[in-house]
Amino acid sequence: MDYIINGGNRLNGEIAVCGAKNCALPLLGASILTDEEIILRNCPQIVDVENMIALLQSMGKKVKRQGDSVYISGGLATTNAPKTLATLLRGSALILGSTVARYHQIELPLPGGCAIGSRPMDIHLLGLEAMGVTVVSCDEVIHCNGVPVGTEYNMRFASVGATENLVCAAVLAKGDTVLTNVATEPEVVALEEMLVCMGAQIDGLGKTELYIKGVNSLHGVEFDVIPDRIVTATYLSAAVAAGGKVTVTDCCPSHLGVFVNMLSTRFKTKVYDNAITLQADNQPSDYGKIITAPYPFFPTDMQSLVMSLAAFSDRGTTVINERLFENRLQHNANELSKMGAKISVDKNKAKITGSKLYGAKVKTGDLRGGAGLVIAGLNASGTTVVQDVSHINRGYFNLAESLRNLGADIKVSN
Ligand code: EPZ
Repeated sequence: MDYIINGGNRLNGEIAVCGAKNCALPLLGASILTDEEIILRNCPQIVDVENMIALLQSMGKKVKRQGDSVYISGGLATTNAPKTLATLLRGSALILGSTVARYHQIELPLPGGCAIGSRPMDIHLLGLEAMGVTVVSCDEVIHCNGVPVGTEYNMRFASVGATENLVCAAVLAKGDTVLTNVATEPEVVALEEMLVCMGAQIDGLGKTELYIKGVNSLHGVEFDVIPDRIVTATYLSAAVAAGGKVTVTDCCPSHLGVFVNMLSTRFKTKVYDNAITLQADNQPSDYGKIITAPYPFFPTDMQSLVMSLAAFSDRGTTVINERLFENRLQHNANELSKMGAKISVDKNKAKITGSKLYGAKVKTGDLRGGAGLVIAGLNASGTTVVQDVSHINRGYFNLAESLRNLGADIKVSN
């Protein structure tokens, strides 16, 4: 499936943001911590979430969806995750901590690396071992056995997934756990908040040090998935690319402060409690020096968006330093160059000089990169074909339709 985009239409109107993929996935994983019913509201209907639901169902959880609400209950019938489902998405790794916490064992086939990097899990596994869990990895399958015991563990890097897995492992552990240098992304904090609502004892929510007192059991809860900050940034970027005035609603502006600040010094913006309005008439010269880093700094998932914005900026130079993933610059630099972009990549640094973009045939390499190519297509003169948008559907619900509703000339072709 491809997107066919004819650039040049200005965008106008309002667009609502769905729940965040990277919040729904850890919350679904955490449902394993109890048999009681977990109700997730604002749970996005996107491929990765549906695959995570299928994975939970294949292991015995009862899961049903009614619109944006997902109801999960019951226990696991097996702790062996089926390879076919577990390798469909990297988010499957997020059943690790909760399954070990509750069932003291798991066999988890890993999806391995992906387009943006090798994505190892050493921080997750060293943390479980620090809790006394036996971890054996062979043939890309992780075997864990043992009852987690409270410990002190400093993460060598503030990994989002490792934080989520180790918090889930610690909430039912025997004794107290201190986790330091943990991630503080809004999606991680939402998981911590849901666990506390389920009866977990966690001090330090949102901070880089967590004090977790193991409890015997957790109960059910009804919880809202937070708005997707990356989808919010995508819609704002679309307004910049096409020009016009767009209000993004049902979002959480404070979760993308760095990105909004970057735009507000270049465009007319208005920030409300749960909405952002951006009006774009001209392109800025450049976007300065962007360095990706763990929250609250510039998010790596917004890097491909700003690469596109810089590609069609007004002749100035932007430098992007991608510090999280070892291979997250080159693919889009190559594809944008087919549209006339002036981008040079040297290891984890990209230098972009703004220029006029022309429609071309480009191919998505990963979810966020694909969104970046769509943004470039909205700005380019002529027709852009973004090929293999299945990557995009992993994290966006009806992106083409949403943009069309704002006035974009974008069609889906099979
Ligand atoms: C989460 O991935 C997100 N995915 C990613 O979004 C996001 O890019 C990333 O966090 C960083 O913000 C979900 O939440 C489902 P990390 P995660 O562990 O947890 C290295 C998207 O498009 N690392 O914080 O896998 C790793 O290789 C996706 O929605 C280790 O070396 O990210 C990477 O270089 C893409 N050992 C860096 O840390 C480990 O044990 C960041 O990884 C774990 C991670």
